[in-house]
Amino acid sequence: MHTLLHNALLAVAFLLVYVVYKLVIALHFDPLRSIAGPKVRRWFGNNLHAVLDPSISPKVHQVYIKQYGRSIRIRGLGPWDERLLTLDPLSVSHVLKNSTIYEKPWQSRKLITSLIGCGMLGAEGQVHKRHRRVATPAFSIQNLRALVPLVFQKGTQLKDRWMEMAIQAEESSQNSEIKVDVCHWINRATFDVIGLAGFDYNFNAIQDESNELFRAYKDMFEVAISQGRFIRTIISIYAPFVNQIFPDETVRQVNRCQEVITRVAGHLVQEKKQKIEEGVKSGIEYAGKDLLSLLLKANMAKDLPADHRISDEDMLNNINTFMFAGSDTSSLTLTWTLLLLAQHPAVQDRLRVELLNMAALSNLSDLTEEEVQSVYAKISDSPYLDNVIRESIRVIPALHSSIRVATQDDEIPTMYPVHSHDGKVIEDRRTVSISKGSFVHVAVEGFNLDQEFWGEDAWEFNPDRWDNLPEGALGLPGLYNHTLTFSAGPRSCIGMRFSMIEMKTFLYILLTQFVFKPSSEKIVKANVVLTRPYISGKFKDGSQCPLLISRYIKPRKQQ
Ligand code: HEM
Ligand SMILES: *[C@@H]1O[C@H](CO)[C@@H](O)[C@H](O)[C@H]1NC(C)=O
Ligand SMILES: *[C@@H]1O[C@H](CO)[C@@H](O)[C@H](O)[C@H]1NC(C)=O
Ligand SMILES: *[C@@H]1O[C@H](CO)[C@@H](O)[C@H](O)[C@H]1NC(C)=O
Repeated sequence: MHTLLHNALLAVAFLLVYVVYKLVIALHFDPLRSIAGPKVRRWFGNNLHAVLDPSISPKVHQVYIKQYGRSIRIRGLGPWDERLLTLDPLSVSHVLKNSTIYEKPWQSRKLITSLIGCGMLGAEGQVHKRHRRVATPAFSIQNLRALVPLVFQKGTQLKDRWMEMAIQAEESSQNSEIKVDVCHWINRATFDVIGLAGFDYNFNAIQDESNELFRAYKDMFEVAISQGRFIRTIISIYAPFVNQIFPDETVRQVNRCQEVITRVAGHLVQEKKQKIEEGVKSGIEYAGKDLLSLLLKANMAKDLPADHRISDEDMLNNINTFMFAGSDTSSLTLTWTLLLLAQHPAVQDRLRVELLNMAALSNLSDLTEEEVQSVYAKISDSPYLDNVIRESIRVIPALHSSIRVATQDDEIPTMYPVHSHDGKVIEDRRTVSISKGSFVHVAVEGFNLDQEFWGEDAWEFNPDRWDNLPEGALGLPGLYNHTLTFSAGPRSCIGMRFSMIEMKTFLYILLTQFVFKPSSEKIVKANVVLTRPYISGKFKDGSQCPLLISRYIKPRKQQ
């Protein structure tokens, strides 16, 4: 009893010392305190909402830049958590390219890992390098081209479903327009695409949503984005044993999903592996074109040193990662593009005309593989389609912002002068000091919408801007056309080219068959892990984006 009390007192004493250290001493020496940033009103207030909410963040960034410069101190969860918000192109490039110094915080990695395992998205250091090395060949242009026919097939299936609905509505109510939640439908399609392309598995979700593995993935990802679980999420990050001892309904749900995924998808990994081994033995190479087959082949290659290989469990983790990173991102990007086109009918009409001029097809269903490839080759060269996609992913990036943590003290170079905390511009200061453990907030949307670089009309959707980009925009870093939508550096999106194929194919198929118009509901953006559409005031109904769709009828040629 005596020692118990003694230990408890010791623990409390340590805790006190730690809190005092964190709040007084460490904070006092935190170099971020020397730079300018917005005040917080209450002791426990923070600036997170201001920089994370897409309905206000563009304005917030604009005001911050004016008042504090481009290297801004913001308050995270509490007074011990001062962060660097950088809107300086040189700084963001330094942070994103230096992935050994700037890692993803362990808190977010733990959350990802608890759901989809430690795949490429959640790993750091050597483990991440190993994952990325094995996966890179699978995403080569040549391998991705082989996936075009199945993307086409899924786009056509979605078109057929909508066509049935449109014809039915015409027959039953003489109504030529149907209201469709494009967000939901396209999500079913992108799940199907990544299932087939990722591991040769047909969820068949466009037809119906009852497939066991589909439900398991859907329900599990739902947990990642469910709101109102803040406390439980904090517990599961900092004290995961609590969840094991007292599992709540969500924890049980995740366990159920993981059981299904390990059983069904784990089995697929073994099956594929066997086929590839048989192929090696018989001399007839297994012809699977899906990402899993290519990953397995790369992993079994003779010239790969043993310590560069990944385990079967990690194979499954990477499949989960592709499902997680490649389904919602793609469907949201397509959804936002269709909404923007509905809101800009002139752009929509012009794009449709261009696509029809490049490849007008009477029947999408009975094309041979060569014909599909030839159609894709044409539309992938369409300059206006390119401009529309570039502009759409600039204006509404699926990932609103990201975060990194400094794993050592560092001097971050800046392009613009730094403002000191009392508001003075320090003209000759071109670095920001950051200490180990501090967070850096990477404003993806912030850079994409920056008026200083993109011009006065930066917040507007204007595909033509890409024919004549301002000098400032050309100097911005980014994996894709000076936008941060796919991030940059060694941790940038490995699926960028894949999603381009998906975007171009789907837009071609859907726009040449349908006309999209806004419905009467007002659609707003909310940042729920990704930037998702909601009906204004109906947040509780979940993410949705209803649009009016009607069949596109070719105008009769005037005699
Ligand atoms: C338009 C669609 C997409 C967008 C906007 C997008 C965006 C991004 C971004 C911003 C990151 C970096 C995340 C961070 O730093 O916090 C990322 C990483 C990643 N993406 Fe994508 N992505 C898309 C589609 C895809 C697809 C289709 C796949 C897979 C087939 C994919 C697989 C990945 C993976 C594996 C990573 C982690 C890379 C690493 O850490 O090395 N993404 N993506
Ligand atoms: C990474 O950071 C170090 C230390 O600040 C710096 O010297 C180096 O140039 C950076 N590398 C890149 C690629 O930015
Ligand atoms: C298109 O092709 C499919 C499959 O070959 C066929 O079932 C369908 O009747 C065709 N539709 C038209 C309008 O020709
Ligand atoms: C946009 O990015 C893609 C991929 O990096 C590249 O192929 C293309 O040339 C770029 N286009 C422009 C206008 O920068």
